[in-house]
Amino acid sequence: MPMKLFCKKEPNIMDRIEKCLAYIRQRTDFKPEIILILGTGLGNLAKRVKEEKVFLYNDLPYFPETTVESHSGKLILGELAGKKVAVMEGRYHYYEGYSLEEVTFPVRVLRQLGAKILVVSNAAGGINLGYRKGEIVMITDHINFMGINPLVGPNEDKLGTRFPDMCEPYSNRLMDLTGQAAREVQVLLSRGVYLGVTGPCLETRAEYRMMRNWGADLVGMSTVPEVIVAAHMGLEVLGLSVVTDTCNPDRLEPCNIEEIIKTANEAGPKLDKLINAAIAKF
Ligand code: HPA
Repeated sequence: MPMKLFCKKEPNIMDRIEKCLAYIRQRTDFKPEIILILGTGLGNLAKRVKEEKVFLYNDLPYFPETTVESHSGKLILGELAGKKVAVMEGRYHYYEGYSLEEVTFPVRVLRQLGAKILVVSNAAGGINLGYRKGEIVMITDHINFMGINPLVGPNEDKLGTRFPDMCEPYSNRLMDLTGQAAREVQVLLSRGVYLGVTGPCLETRAEYRMMRNWGADLVGMSTVPEVIVAAHMGLEVLGLSVVTDTCNPDRLEPCNIEEIIKTANEAGPKLDKLINAAIAKF
């Protein structure tokens, strides 16, 4: 018996995307320009959207069932800052047990629905000790330290090339416009490299030291899979992190998740203001 190389899920990815698209298109002819994925504690921006149509993740074909942690997942289609947006309220994380194909499925669907830009926010640890808690950092590049990649497996050529390049996963054009927006709305905006881990445990002192030596400024448990899939499908990406804790290996304190969420919540309005001003220019 020849060895079976791939365990093929039925129906295949293209069929699953098509079925989900058909479900959405039967209910609305809305075409988003921009996808917004809002990070932990950063979901308030969704409330500012002038809603056209809202879907629960659990009603959308082939969207993974949401867990307690990714609770109340909602896809909001509507208008924000004069742009047509698709806001993902609640995101899927690998540490919850989803495959990376599942984590990134919504990005694939929304790209096929017409989106050209992905804006992604997250709460991240500050490896760069120059950052303060609550500071907003624009992601200029990333390091995939998840030990896994959402593009592993048969490639669907209709979606993107087998070997996508990663020379500019975060768009210089969007970064320039966001820099301008930050000056206009007077939000301090730093820049940095995001290192993605699977979690769910936090890092050891030795790991934080290593990450700093590797050139990482931020560490977090999301974003990298969605950005890789965005690069595969030719989306322009803007990534923004809120620094929720400082990762100083010489003065490491036990992680306090309530504190992390509180810091993200406090920075939320500043981030919302920035995203609003930025996407108006996109
Ligand atoms: N490590 C990983 N993920 C995180 C952290 C961290 O220190 N802070 C917020 N998300």
